[in-house]
Amino acid sequence: MRILSVVGARPNFMKLAPVDRELVKRGVEHVIVHTGQHYDPDMSDAFFEQLWIPAPDHDLGVGSGSHAQQTAAVMQRLEPVIVELHPDLVLTYGDVNSTVAAALVAAKLQVRVGHVEAGLRSRDWTMPEEINRVVTDRLSDLLFLPSRDAAENLDAEGIPADRMHFVGNVMIDTLCWALPQALAVDAPARFEVRGRPYVVVTLHRPANVDDPAVLRELLEALTRLADHVPVLFPVHPRTRARIRTRARIEDLRLRPPADRGLRLLEPLAYLDMLSLVAKAGLVVTDSGGLQEETSFLGVPCLTVRPNTERPITCTHGTNRLVQAQRDAILAAAERGLARHSPARPVIERWDGQAAERIARVVCEGERFELDGAVAAPSHAARRAVAIPQPLGAG
Ligand code: UD1
Repeated sequence: MRILSVVGARPNFMKLAPVDRELVKRGVEHVIVHTGQHYDPDMSDAFFEQLWIPAPDHDLGVGSGSHAQQTAAVMQRLEPVIVELHPDLVLTYGDVNSTVAAALVAAKLQVRVGHVEAGLRSRDWTMPEEINRVVTDRLSDLLFLPSRDAAENLDAEGIPADRMHFVGNVMIDTLCWALPQALAVDAPARFEVRGRPYVVVTLHRPANVDDPAVLRELLEALTRLADHVPVLFPVHPRTRARIRTRARIEDLRLRPPADRGLRLLEPLAYLDMLSLVAKAGLVVTDSGGLQEETSFLGVPCLTVRPNTERPITCTHGTNRLVQAQRDAILAAAERGLARHSPARPVIERWDGQAAERIARVVCEGERFELDGAVAAPSHAARRAVAIPQPLGAG
């Protein structure tokens, strides 16, 4: 059996790693294609190394561009690879431009498509990721669901239940695999925050960083917060470019290595980031993966977004939505820092075995049913699904 996995952006790599291990264990010929959507060594190579992912068999080198340019470039360069290799299945991951591009190419070549992390919905069509999710799921033959709410979303869109497999969350597989190494790395000691409450921040969504007024509001909130507690902010390249051009870094009273203050860092490799997050008092983010990782670890998380495609992290985990407003963030951060509890939330099938279930579906034809009630929810049940609201709204 030949399976081709297509990845391109940082959050894809954590999802690929455990799937690759499980497929290889079963003797599958697993071909890895890197689209090159993310190309900086610290956004890509570091993840392959730390997560023991073999070097990609094909690197499409698409780089940056507008959404259409990036998606089109992946499609153009991927098509001949799929034609030549004619895999039994193309696996796509998450919700980035590389994901939807790969699904489109494979589906049009009549090659079966599997989508890892299917069925998540924010219902926010201003997010490019939402468009990518909906289109990818519609084109996929095998949908691998991280949580039960995904089945309700797919059912509402008319996707047949026999395509869905409730396998759990592959991000958590990688977290479980890496946590002992991450704790040994002891990044808090390196950043001189060990044994004290500190905050870890990531922000990169266009809605938060592309509008100078919103970005300034967020940076103001973080500098105020940093008057009370160390704030470590590994900065995504998109955000760094915006800060440089629009926010006047010198206005932010930044203090390089010190025991307090807002510290802007280069993007961190996976183990360093996990090491910091695992011991943080609070995480402030707009990333999807961090909402899940903090929930699993029991670390309070504030997500600076009006909605989330991962509501289970609010209903069953430690995540709270907050508006991109200085005072709302400061008030929520104070509550979050006080909220730390030693008990970790337990979320169904976030157990480190999601990739094994995927491999059993793909290689052994097993099914991971949702059980009747969830596969075909009533309209009343569908309406009853809680939609988290951001703190500070109204
Ligand atoms: C992409 C994903 C987003 C994901 C994020 C994780 C889409 C639509 N968005 O957003 O869902 O959460 O990755 O990081 O696919 N850049 C570099 N070096 C790199 C990569 C990017 O400098 O290695 C810069 C470029 O200037 C680029 C910008 O960052 O234009 C944005 O990169 P891009 O991949 O288009 O989207 P992200 O914002 O990273």
